[in-house]
Amino acid sequence: MKTTVTLAVIAAGVQAQEVYFTTTGYTARPQCTQPPATPSYRFQPFSYTLNETVRYATSIPSPSTTATFGPGYKEAVKMMNTKLSTTTWGSWVPGETVISATDTADKYGQAAWSSQWAQASLVNYTAVGLYTTTVRPTPVPTSELVLPPRDYFGPSDCYDFPQDFAFGVAGSAAQIEGAMGLEGRAPSLLEKIIQTGEPKDYVTNENYYLYKQDIQRLAAMGVKYYSFSIPWGRVLPFAVPGSPLNEQALKHYDDLINYVLEVGMLPVVTMLHFDTPLYFLKDANISATPDIGYNNGGYWHPEFVDSFVNYGKILFAHYSDRVPFWVTINEPLLYSFNFTGINNVVHAHAQLHHFYHDVLNGTGKVGFKLNDNFGVPKNPENQTDVDATNRFNAMQLGVFAYPICLGQQYPESILNTLPGAKPLTDAELKYIRKSTDFFGIDPYTATVVSPAPGGVEACSKQNTSTNSLFPYCVTQEWTNVYGWDIGYRSDSYVYITPTYLRSYLFYLWNTYKTPVIVSEFGFPVYDESFRDLPDQLFDSPRSQYYLSYMSEILKSIYEDGVKVIGAFAWSFMDNWEFGSYEAQFGLQVVNRTSQQRYYKKSFFDLVDFMGARNGLGY
Ligand SMILES: *[C@@H]1O[C@H](CO)[C@@H](O)[C@H](O)[C@H]1NC(C)=O
Ligand SMILES: *[C@@H]1O[C@H](CO)[C@@H](O)[C@H](O)[C@H]1NC(C)=O
Ligand SMILES: *[C@@H]1O[C@H](CO)[C@@H](O)[C@H](O)[C@H]1NC(C)=O
Ligand SMILES: *[C@@H]1O[C@H](CO)[C@@H](O)[C@H](O)[C@H]1NC(C)=O
Ligand SMILES: *[C@@H]1O[C@H](CO)[C@@H](O)[C@H](O)[C@H]1NC(C)=O
Ligand SMILES: *[C@@H]1O[C@H](CO)[C@@H](O)[C@H](O)[C@H]1NC(C)=O
Ligand SMILES: *[C@@H]1O[C@H](CO)[C@@H](O)[C@H](O)[C@H]1NC(C)=O
Ligand SMILES: *[C@@H]1O[C@H](CO)[C@@H](O)[C@H](O)[C@H]1NC(C)=O
Repeated sequence: MKTTVTLAVIAAGVQAQEVYFTTTGYTARPQCTQPPATPSYRFQPFSYTLNETVRYATSIPSPSTTATFGPGYKEAVKMMNTKLSTTTWGSWVPGETVISATDTADKYGQAAWSSQWAQASLVNYTAVGLYTTTVRPTPVPTSELVLPPRDYFGPSDCYDFPQDFAFGVAGSAAQIEGAMGLEGRAPSLLEKIIQTGEPKDYVTNENYYLYKQDIQRLAAMGVKYYSFSIPWGRVLPFAVPGSPLNEQALKHYDDLINYVLEVGMLPVVTMLHFDTPLYFLKDANISATPDIGYNNGGYWHPEFVDSFVNYGKILFAHYSDRVPFWVTINEPLLYSFNFTGINNVVHAHAQLHHFYHDVLNGTGKVGFKLNDNFGVPKNPENQTDVDATNRFNAMQLGVFAYPICLGQQYPESILNTLPGAKPLTDAELKYIRKSTDFFGIDPYTATVVSPAPGGVEACSKQNTSTNSLFPYCVTQEWTNVYGWDIGYRSDSYVYITPTYLRSYLFYLWNTYKTPVIVSEFGFPVYDESFRDLPDQLFDSPRSQYYLSYMSEILKSIYEDGVKVIGAFAWSFMDNWEFGSYEAQFGLQVVNRTSQQRYYKKSFFDLVDFMGARNGLGY
């Protein structure tokens, strides 16, 4: 995929050593096979055209068959070797439940549950939004399903998606559900992490009660897969093995999954999406600076592995018959905190994969989902930059994927840099090897990498408090070697970088030899949240992002031989971005006063692109 190098000094002022992949001349037009035409001028009658050839979105067909991916609950639960009991706890009303509950002797009782909330001591706690019970869905009016005007430019590829390509949209619980202290949910890290004036996750989009309407809106657009997360603290409010299950939560997600199937869609379930039960952090300093990642997600906790595996098995037992794709932990690097956290994630993931396939004989897929804005060397001809880039990508991806995909040891860079890092034993590697059915990647954008000032080696001997570039020890930038931005910039860290996506997919497939799912990708249009509603809805830059990325995925599949088996757009609606509503990643606008949703243009464009290429999966 390297272009022919014609060395030429293209302009005065450009230093010879700065010229890397240069060539002169204009963009080639391989599509133009005829000689250029000559104009022939003439007069003709004129009439106004309104172009009212209205097209509507095509909703998903009703299901005709139901596929099964695992044993039903009765069979599965026998394989668990644990006694499961269920109960209900009700809802947290600040100052009330804690007083009225009298079962103080029961360590998993109402009083104990309430005291978790009291101990969380959250600021400005809001119990409910507009809804306190599931809203009955109504069909989406056809007037909302009229396609928007097309953008002038667009992809011109001629490929169709492979038959079984899994296309869908994604979201995560804490970013959309609200109903934080209702129906038995226990507090999670995400309520605690924002304690200043910024928006909290207490109410958000009220999807906990509006899920049917939200799913109905996806089906009306023709989307096949819905990727969502289940909050651990709803299912197991006391988190640990042996503690009772929350009957209301189990029913809720059972109903959600059934509703997804009823409208003709398929569910993709993530078990942990940053919302660690606060239990694992109750004595920890959640503001402490991590050795690696952004936050202290409690994955290092001595009880984490057994507890997470127990929770994961419970989800499998209840839902594996109906779920084709499972993700254990979302973007684990970001909340791993230190080497212990990483090591725990690797072990917990492998145990769940083994349980699913070796014990339950599940026929769906279980995988992970990693973050890493693809590191690309500042100068690909400079070995120092290439080495720094390999280190950057290995520390973010290889740390999980060397053992899980390849059965290989943690990267040298991890072992040599992270405090307390220890190699896996041969027996551990044997057990962990190939414990994933897909490589989920959230390749939002690319990052230009070069070594840290003073060099990688010196930096790697320091620590987070003495060097802000620790532990990767690289400089990250978003301009290329000539000073141009790497692509059109969004409201935050995302730049439109479709061609880097293609080289990223090439890198992943050929390095980790595992089928790839683009498990999240999306674009927060600059300043979108400050615009009037009609202008928010006409989101051409997001369309450009999605269509160019999907187009590059097609080229990756057909021209590079890369096995990409699915893509889930982030997000199906604007949501709570960890303390903010400003960087909007959604395919729909949400009015959080009325809880009304509005489709954006990019949603129509993306689904139309997929449908035109046989990519919707039906
Ligand atoms: C109307 O649609 C036709 C056919 O697609 C196109 O050629 C023409 O440019 C459109 N006119 C306007 C004003 O958009
Ligand atoms: C709590 O709510 C009050 C009133 O709405 C607001 O002024 C204050 O900034 C909020 N404090 C925090 C920390 O969110
Ligand atoms: C928690 O960690 C932060 C950041 O490292 C530090 O500033 C703070 O003093 C710590 N708090 C406690 C109570 O240790
Ligand atoms: C899984 O397959 C094994 C061997 O074929 C069998 O012993 C076991 O009962 C099966 N488990 C379930 C849950 O069907
Ligand atoms: C390669 O990159 C490094 C670090 O960015 C720089 O110090 C070095 O001079 C470069 N080497 C060449 C041959 O350009
Ligand atoms: C990770 O952090 C936890 C909590 O602070 C600590 O107990 C553990 O020892 C740390 N692990 C390493 C390898 O530093
Ligand atoms: C970081 O390194 C400095 C200088 O070597 C040392 O004084 C400090 O104790 C280290 N901090 C941590 C958290 O290891
Ligand atoms: C959101 O909904 C409220 C209540 O219906 C309405 O007053 C407000 O104008 C809406 N906001 C926007 C930006 O449309």
